Amino acid sequence: MTHRRSRTYRTSWTTGGLRVDEKVAAAVREGLAARPKWLPPWLFYDEAGSRLFEAITQLPEYYLTRTERGILAGHAAEMVAKAAGDARLRLVELGAGSADKTRLLLAAAIERQQTVTYEPLDVSVTALEAARKRIEGEIEGVTVLPRRMDYTQGLGLDSAAPGERRLVLYIGSSIGNFVPGAAGALLEGVRRGLAPGDGLLLGVDLVKDEASLLAAYNDAAGVTAAFNLNLLARLNGELEGDFDLEKFEHRAIFNREQSRVEMHLVSTCAQRVWLEALGMTALFNEGETIHTENSYKYAPGAAEKILTAAGFTPAGSWTDEQERFAVCLGLVE
Ligand code: AVJ
Repeated sequence: MTHRRSRTYRTSWTTGGLRVDEKVAAAVREGLAARPKWLPPWLFYDEAGSRLFEAITQLPEYYLTRTERGILAGHAAEMVAKAAGDARLRLVELGAGSADKTRLLLAAAIERQQTVTYEPLDVSVTALEAARKRIEGEIEGVTVLPRRMDYTQGLGLDSAAPGERRLVLYIGSSIGNFVPGAAGALLEGVRRGLAPGDGLLLGVDLVKDEASLLAAYNDAAGVTAAFNLNLLARLNGELEGDFDLEKFEHRAIFNREQSRVEMHLVSTCAQRVWLEALGMTALFNEGETIHTENSYKYAPGAAEKILTAAGFTPAGSWTDEQERFAVCLGLVE
């Protein structure tokens, strides 16, 4: 049995003792030269950023994580039953980060079939190892098979054992970071890596009143602001930048036409920033922004629509009482 796991995703070079990640360098070079300026949201998740995101998920204003957890807690058995049919289920997760939510689905599968195989897919070996430790140590009956891969490029999985189906988990509103075309392409890539009988469980945040949305991305304690600004601290560290974090501000807006919350970093004055590792200057006007994230909010029925467009058959949808968040199941026929 061979796994596609030894591919190299990143190259790096060294300037004066500094390790520069080529993928980071290319993204920053492109994004800061563009107008309007932008940076991709995956840049948030260095060590400090991942810790800040964990803190965000526990904020009173950030309803997403706890709402989805509630939906899973209430319906995991039904979701697993629908996806399994009369077969055994194997759980595959896109990303290795959803911890306590994944546990609810694993427990439901174990309840049904005694043991379960869990395959987290992530580009980060560190994240995969953490997931393995967390899950294997805490839930009896789970075999963890971490796979290092970039799932946005499609799935490279072994074919399922006879009598076994896969349920791919893409929860946490992670799909929200992708513009509609890219989200569709991602789901279609996932579907192509699956077989008839397999399924996808998709978690999406729903459109709601602007005040609740903005509070979730601009919390009173300032954790989301710190998360956004940490991106500049990361560039200072990794690309020898001289961003002055005092001269940028966090801003979250709801773009209703595009149905997304946008995060930006606003330059509070005219300034010039130097990135030594790139040999690059970035000029900012006062009030100019760097667009750092889109977080799409789905209308009722929109998740089913994008599942269908990607070749899945909608087979169930669950939401909370206030319809803040939805978890949808799509099956491959
Ligand atoms: C991890 C993409 C689901 O969009 O809500 C949280 C990231 N950004 N606060 C989201 C995030 C600001 C989060 N996702």
